[in-house]
Amino acid sequence: AKIRQKSGNNEKNVRDGSGIASYTVVREELAEGLVIGNISALATPAQAQAAVDMLQADALEIHLNAAQELWMAEGDKDTCGLLANLVQIRDAVSVPVIVKETGCGIAAEQYELLLEQGFTAFDCAGAGGTNFPAIEAKRQGVELTEEFAAWGVPTCWSLLDAQQTLPENALLLASGGIRTAGDAARAFALGADAVGITAPLLRLVMEQGIDAAVDYVYSLAEGLQKYMLLLGCLTPKELRDVPLIVTGETRDFIASRGYELAKLCRWRRG
Ligand SMILES: Cc1cc2nc3c(=O)[nH]c(=O)nc-3n(C[C@H](O)[C@H](O)[C@H](O)COP(=O)(O)O)c2cc1C
Repeated sequence: AKIRQKSGNNEKNVRDGSGIASYTVVREELAEGLVIGNISALATPAQAQAAVDMLQADALEIHLNAAQELWMAEGDKDTCGLLANLVQIRDAVSVPVIVKETGCGIAAEQYELLLEQGFTAFDCAGAGGTNFPAIEAKRQGVELTEEFAAWGVPTCWSLLDAQQTLPENALLLASGGIRTAGDAARAFALGADAVGITAPLLRLVMEQGIDAAVDYVYSLAEGLQKYMLLLGCLTPKELRDVPLIVTGETRDFIASRGYELAKLCRWRRG
């Protein structure tokens, strides 16, 4: 309730200081839990550290949202120097940094670029769930064309690219269209260390209240346990040993990328 009260007024914001309480309340309520801050890749290192301090965050996500900015009337169309800025933020802040997309996915080529710069933690945030270009187009009273509505690397493909590109010790979070326990199980099977869900949770909070959102999370956890039992897995991590069955466009994607399909479709233990 306190979180709702302090974040309820849209007019308040961090830049002029009026919205700070809606962020500091998170750590007040969650003394022991994991708090991950989130900031634009266009932020300055000082702004990034201020966000970490405000939340007393354990880690900071830096989000990439080029497609959203393109369709946002007030969006930033200049992405020059973005990678260098990511490095500057990472080197300046006091906590580990996670690079995150926002619904258009990260592809193998971008994972590689980021790895070269020393980044080791990612949230693929792929296409298939919340579609920011569509949201921004709607805000301006226009429908996004079908071709651009389909833009982005689907979460499943972004996870496959990550699995084939990232070293074992990298941290991989999966989000973008995760809605059911089955979606979560598949993301774990594709190598995710954790999954994130945004739109359904926000919708439940707004339309049915916080208890409904909490129930949803518990039902997902229960469903995931069922999948783990059925697949003989003691931990979500063990789900990545389970053989995959790949059909349709994803099979074509794997073939186009030159990944070894048969290897994915066998028990992948050890
Ligand atoms: C209302 C809303 C606000 C969001 N704001 C942010 C944000 O500030 N930073 C960020 O990294 N992602 C943001 N996201 C993107 C989500 O974190 C997530 O990557 C994306 O919505 C895909 O997940 P979903 O399909 O479960 O919604 C936002 C999503 C929604 C729906």
